[in-house]
Amino acid sequence: MNISRIGGGPWKQNSFLITLDSSAILIDPGGQSQAILEALDNDCLTLLAIINTHGHFDHIGAVQDILDRTQSTFYISAQEVPIMNTTNLMRFIFKSKEKVRIPKIFSDLDVMPRKTNFGGISFELVPTPGHTPGGYCFIVGEHIFSGDTVLSSMPGSAELPGGDLQKLANSLSFLQTLPRDLVLHPGHGRDSSLGDALDASIRWLESSRPQHD
Ligand SMILES: [Fe+2]
Repeated sequence: MNISRIGGGPWKQNSFLITLDSSAILIDPGGQSQAILEALDNDCLTLLAIINTHGHFDHIGAVQDILDRTQSTFYISAQEVPIMNTTNLMRFIFKSKEKVRIPKIFSDLDVMPRKTNFGGISFELVPTPGHTPGGYCFIVGEHIFSGDTVLSSMPGSAELPGGDLQKLANSLSFLQTLPRDLVLHPGHGRDSSLGDALDASIRWLESSRPQHD
């Protein structure tokens, strides 16, 4: 199995391409559709699935372009539909003129078995609400793809529409029950280990809590 990061774009969002033999799975294609399609073509890869940690505007920008050019299926929680529907409003607020086609057809992660398999690659689907209502992390072997639930030095924001700080804290508590040495691939920024990222995130949450006498 090989994992490659295709990052960049105005929000420096990370997409990840996981490959095994000629099969490929794509996580969170927020942009860079041309680079992703070239990576698939160059290595004669068959894209089986696009699987999203969540539906924020900066994580779905290339989904429909790639669905149009491949035979893949898009997987995301149905709870993310209202989030996806705000994509062009959020892009406008964040000063991007580029309109995004919002994918309408998807398979709902919420009704899938927690352990699933795409092209011989085993995925464990871990619901981690808080950054958004239907957020997920994905465990693949010794790796965890965390979207914006936990970044390398802080948790994701709970302040965008649909965010819930208490649910985010609960999700971080659950992630603390997983092996600390899982390799963390977050939705933005550099890789880390799950344990180090959680330590930093929990310190960050505690330091940002209102102080009382
Ligand atoms: Fe996000």
